[in-house]
Amino acid sequence: MNSFFSFNKFRFLTLNVILILFLFLQSCYTPKSIKATVVSARQEASAIGASVLAKGGTAFDAMIATDLALTVCYPNAGNISGGGFFVYRTSQGEVGSLDYREKAPLGASAKMYLDEEGNVLPDKSTLGGLAVGVPGTVAGLVAIHQKFGTLPWKELVQPAIDLARDGYIVTEMQAQSFESAIEQFSSINGSETFYAQGFKKGDRVKNIALAETLERIANLGKAGFYEGENADALVERVKETGGIITHDDLIQYEPVWREPIHFKYKDLDIYTMAPPSSGGICLGQIMKMIEPFNIGQYNQNAQEAVQIIVEAERRSYADRSLYLGDPDFVSIPTKELLDISYLNERMASFNFEQATNSSAIAPGTVVWEESEETTHYSILDTFGNAVAVTTTLNGSYGSKVYVESGGYFLNNEMDDFSSKPGVPNMFGLIGGEANAIAPQKRMLSAMTPTIVEKNGALSMIVGTPGGSTIITSVLQTLLNVYEFEMDIQTAVSAPRFHHQWLPDVVVFEPNRFENDFILKLQEKGYNIKEEYTRIIGRVDAIHIAEDGTIQTGADPRGDDTAVSLY
Ligand code: DON
Repeated sequence: MNSFFSFNKFRFLTLNVILILFLFLQSCYTPKSIKATVVSARQEASAIGASVLAKGGTAFDAMIATDLALTVCYPNAGNISGGGFFVYRTSQGEVGSLDYREKAPLGASAKMYLDEEGNVLPDKSTLGGLAVGVPGTVAGLVAIHQKFGTLPWKELVQPAIDLARDGYIVTEMQAQSFESAIEQFSSINGSETFYAQGFKKGDRVKNIALAETLERIANLGKAGFYEGENADALVERVKETGGIITHDDLIQYEPVWREPIHFKYKDLDIYTMAPPSSGGICLGQIMKMIEPFNIGQYNQNAQEAVQIIVEAERRSYADRSLYLGDPDFVSIPTKELLDISYLNERMASFNFEQATNSSAIAPGTVVWEESEETTHYSILDTFGNAVAVTTTLNGSYGSKVYVESGGYFLNNEMDDFSSKPGVPNMFGLIGGEANAIAPQKRMLSAMTPTIVEKNGALSMIVGTPGGSTIITSVLQTLLNVYEFEMDIQTAVSAPRFHHQWLPDVVVFEPNRFENDFILKLQEKGYNIKEEYTRIIGRVDAIHIAEDGTIQTGADPRGDDTAVSLY
């Protein structure tokens, strides 16, 4: 009896040990689930944002710390001296957006980039002081903190100050980026300028001047940038380099809370940026034009799918050039542009046999040399608040004008205006009266920070840099997930293509599409030129599956990294 009992007891204990061991091993091999995350262009910035989340901060708090960290370690696009758009969805499901886009200075005028014969003066809207729009970033961050901040402002600025003082490590891609711009840094700012030191991969960059500017912002908030010592330095530097921004411009700058563009696509509710970004209206138009084609019946990047997308893009970018601008200056027929019968009618001229011709107008000369130099980040906190932010200096390092005592570059956002109707800007985009320059007007953007709900629940946070390709990159990420059933990382990494009406060219990412495939499209009349191929977008996204599983997509085209809490 006794021995039987001990034998059973022994077996019972052994089984239990095996079970515990099994559960332990299973927990080792089961991927841990993400509870909150920051996906941005740099590991340091994502880590700083995640550390704010880890100490109980919200996505709104983390957004401020992440943004300022990008200013330090991603100076080509991260900024306190540019502008951006912020789209949010609170854990309660409230949705909104902030426009802190740059504005034209008070002294700006419609013809400021034209010579006496009315021709566009080369480089004036892209390089040097005249290219600089009145910055909106610091005012934007302060407004977001006032409305949503839960941690003290100073505490959120401090990590960026520390990063500027302790230094960030130059990545390989960043070293290339510095190298490609070093001549312009020197020619505009002199060979002694901070970023002309020739930083190499692995170098530690300590930007003490920027740390001091950030300290001023930490102590004084908006006034730390728009008034006093920083304002004096900024105005003087702009003047020295041929620009017209004054103290009045800085003092008068205010960001604007705007109703996001909202549209439905199948079981999705998509919230994205309204004008002065064209992103929301164009994304809405393109998706609504695609919806009736049931594009999910094709494979991702199948010829038919590409044709449908390109033709919808063509029609939407044509509308963009005519109707879109700053809503505080021009009236925009938003409802009509997103009207389903209007959009169906627009697509009625499309057939699978032959490409539609963009226009009789000859395409302008396009400069594709700018790489992806805006930046986007997506944040989800443990409470369920979601934040999508796209921010920019426009070109890489903006106007290349460096405020030495402040430690930062100034934007060249003025190039996003239409300097002259029909003449393309640096992204080849054409505009007209609606996007003409006027004092205190905001230039039209393509930035598309976007939040998606599926069946009423938060489903995706997404956005990207890429100038005119921003809208089409966000679009393809959405379609890759919701139509072609990819996980978010695969959707972000997948090859992309782009079309924008004029020039009448479809751009494909280099070496990522089969030659046969390109040939077939060319036979149908699509204009595809090798010399236009380029990297398209750097998407940073978060996907929340219907069972609540959170996944991140950080674009391998850049140094983009997700840092998550588990
Ligand atoms: O607002 C816009 O649409 C542009 N200034 C964005 C510039 C950009 O994405 C640069 N990256 N290629």
